[in-house]
Amino acid sequence: MKILSSIALGILTSTYTLAQTTMCFKENHTSMITIEKTVLNGGLCSSKKSVIDMKKDGWIVDDIKIEKTSLGNNYIYIFKKNNKTLSSLNEAEIEKIVMKKLETRKKEEIEIQKRDIKLKMSKSGKEIYLRHCQSCHGKNADIKSHNTSRPLINLSFTDMKLAIRDYTLGEYDRGRAFIMKPYSDLLTTKRLKDVYSYIQTLKDNNKTGDNK
Ligand code: HEC
Repeated sequence: MKILSSIALGILTSTYTLAQTTMCFKENHTSMITIEKTVLNGGLCSSKKSVIDMKKDGWIVDDIKIEKTSLGNNYIYIFKKNNKTLSSLNEAEIEKIVMKKLETRKKEEIEIQKRDIKLKMSKSGKEIYLRHCQSCHGKNADIKSHNTSRPLINLSFTDMKLAIRDYTLGEYDRGRAFIMKPYSDLLTTKRLKDVYSYIQTLKDNNKTGDNK
């Protein structure tokens, strides 16, 4: 078992069992009483097996979702079966499970890292925004500063970057650039990225109605 490194062993303990699941459904069924005897569609029921048949085959009902429709109810059954234990698997099967687990774990770690970076950026961006930008561009970045600028919340990162660069170069002016220029001089690309990240979090606030 060459790939069973210590990490893999940590993932696969001796009590690890292979759960198999399948999802079956019945749409617009009218009677609660007959549902267990009714042949279900989808999954391993494949329009042949009812709940009772599935139970006979060793499946247990893991979850049931019922949605009301105008014609009755939609039933969704999740069946589960613990049919194999680790010791009954051959090497190739174990290798497959371990690889899959490691892959998911790697993906999760990358997601967490990305989230952390975003969080850090928006934290530093928040500090800059509150200290240097909010007074003119608004708590929610949604006002036209001095009736001139576009609401920052509507701008892409490229829009912002070009605007800031051009204020710094003295090439962008709608009559109030003199008010903005000192602040554009404060912004490196990194600081602007952070501010941009923070502004994006304000969009979520606006959606949920916070911060109003
Ligand atoms: C004292 C008020 C004031 C402050 C503080 C301020 N701005 Fe501005 N900002 C303006 C005004 C006014 C304009 C429009 C100027 C013009 O083009 O005539 C503007 C324009 C902009 C634009 C261009 C928008 C567009 O329509 O293209 C960006 C981007 C911007 N500001 C970002 C920032 C950021 C980021 C900060 C904080 C670091 C900041 N501003 C701080 C007043 C301010």
